[in-house]
Amino acid sequence: MRFDVIVIGAGAAGMLCAAEAGARGRRVLLIDHAARIGERIRVSGGGRCNFTNREVAPGHYLSRNPHFVRSALARFTPWDFIARVERQGIAYHERDHGQLFCDDSAQAIIDLLRQDCDGAGVRWAQPCKVHAVRGLDGSGVERFEVDTDQGRFRGMSLVVATGGLAVPKMGATPFGYRLAEQFGLPVVPPMAALVPLVLPPDLLAALKPLSGVSVEAMTRVPPSSPAFQESVLLTHRGLSGPAILQASSYWQFGGARGPVRIDLLPGEDGARWLAGQQRSRALLSTLLSERLPRRFAQAWCTLAGGDRPLDTYARRDLEALGERLNTWSLTPSGTLGYAKAEVTLGGVDTDALSSRTLEAREVPGLYFVGEVVDVTGWLGGYNFQWAWSSGWVAGQFA
Ligand code: FDA
Repeated sequence: MRFDVIVIGAGAAGMLCAAEAGARGRRVLLIDHAARIGERIRVSGGGRCNFTNREVAPGHYLSRNPHFVRSALARFTPWDFIARVERQGIAYHERDHGQLFCDDSAQAIIDLLRQDCDGAGVRWAQPCKVHAVRGLDGSGVERFEVDTDQGRFRGMSLVVATGGLAVPKMGATPFGYRLAEQFGLPVVPPMAALVPLVLPPDLLAALKPLSGVSVEAMTRVPPSSPAFQESVLLTHRGLSGPAILQASSYWQFGGARGPVRIDLLPGEDGARWLAGQQRSRALLSTLLSERLPRRFAQAWCTLAGGDRPLDTYARRDLEALGERLNTWSLTPSGTLGYAKAEVTLGGVDTDALSSRTLEAREVPGLYFVGEVVDVTGWLGGYNFQWAWSSGWVAGQFA
C-alpha cells in the first residue's frame, strides 16, 4: 500500500507528528510494534504525565549541539501544547519548577493524541513488526519501502519516532539508531540518563543502612553542570531522587564520569556556620541534625573522620568540615542502566539533521523526531516538550 508519510513509533513524538501531517492532508500510516500505544506516556509522572514545563529553553537540554533544539522549541512551544490540553478539557496543575501534570490520568494525553490522529485520518498498523526498510532508488515519488508483518508499505516520507533505549520492557529498541546507520547517518553513542547512580562498595557499605533516607541538597557535576536543588535519596545501591537523576545526565555526558558534588547546606556557608559553634559542647552530629536527618548526620560524621563535641575541634578543622558539607564529593561507580533510566542520552547526530525540518540533510524524505535524536531534556516535562516540538516540526514538512 502507498502513503505519503509513514511514521514508525506511536509514542509522544510519532503521534503528534502523524496528526500534524494528516491535518495537512497527507495520507499517513502510523506503525508501532507494541500491543498498547503510548506506554511511556501512561507511566510518566507517576501516572499523571508531566507533559511540559512553563519555562522551556535550550539550556534545559543536553546535546552535542546545544543550539539544535532552538528552532523547534520556538515554533511549537509549551503554550501550544497547553492550548491542546485545555481545548480537550484536561485538568492540570503546576508543581515545583514550573512542571505541569494532569490532575487525573496520563491516559487523557494518550486519548488526545489518538483523537487528533483519528481526526486527521491517520491509518494505524499496530501491533505491527517492521522487518526491513529500504530506500528506493530513482526519481519516483515513493522513496521508502517498509516490510512488516502486515505487508509491504511504500511512502514518500519516512519519520522515525522510535524513541531511545530506556526501559526495554516497555518496548524500547535500538531500531532508530540502526536505521540511521543504514542510511549513513552518524549516531552519538547512547547512554542511560536521568538514572539512579551506583556507589562503589566502600561508600555503599557506609551509606546503605540509610536506604530510604532523603536529604534536600544541591547537586552539581564539575566542571560546568548547572546546579539542581531538590532531594537526594539514599538507596540500597547508591543514590537517587530528582537532584541525582538530573546530575546523572551530566555525569554521563561526554563520558567524564568524575565526582558528583553535593551541597548538603544549600544557601548556607558551612565553614562559617560550624566555626560559629566552636564553643558548643554538643556533638558535631547533633548540630548537623538541626539541618539534616539525624541518621544521615551520624553517618556523614563517621565518613568525615569522627563525631566529637564541637569544643574539641580546632576552628580551622570546623571550617574544613563546614566546607566539606558544602562540597561533599562522591564518585559513583556506574548507573542502574536502561532498566531504571527515564531517558537516553545520545542518539542520531544532530549534525546530520536540519534543525528547521528534522529531515536528514543527505537523505531527502527521512526524518527523525523525539528521543531517538541526540537531544536529552532535564527532568521536569522537558523531554515530552522536545517530543511535541520535534514531532510538530516534522509534521509540517514530511
Ligand atoms: P517513545 O518512547 O514515547 O515512543 C517510541 C515508540 O516507538 C513506542 O511506542 C515504541 O513501542 C515504538 N517502537 C520502538 N521500537 C520500535 C520498532 N522497532 N518498531 C516499531 N515501533 C517501535 N518525560 C517527561 O517529559 N515527563 C515525564 O513525566 C516523564 N516521565 C517518564 C517516566 C518514565 C518511567 C520514563 C521511562 C520516561 C519518562 N519521560 C518523561 C520521558 C519520556 O517518556 C520520553 O522522553 C518520551 O516518551 C519520548 O518520546 P518519543 O516519542 O521519542 O519515544
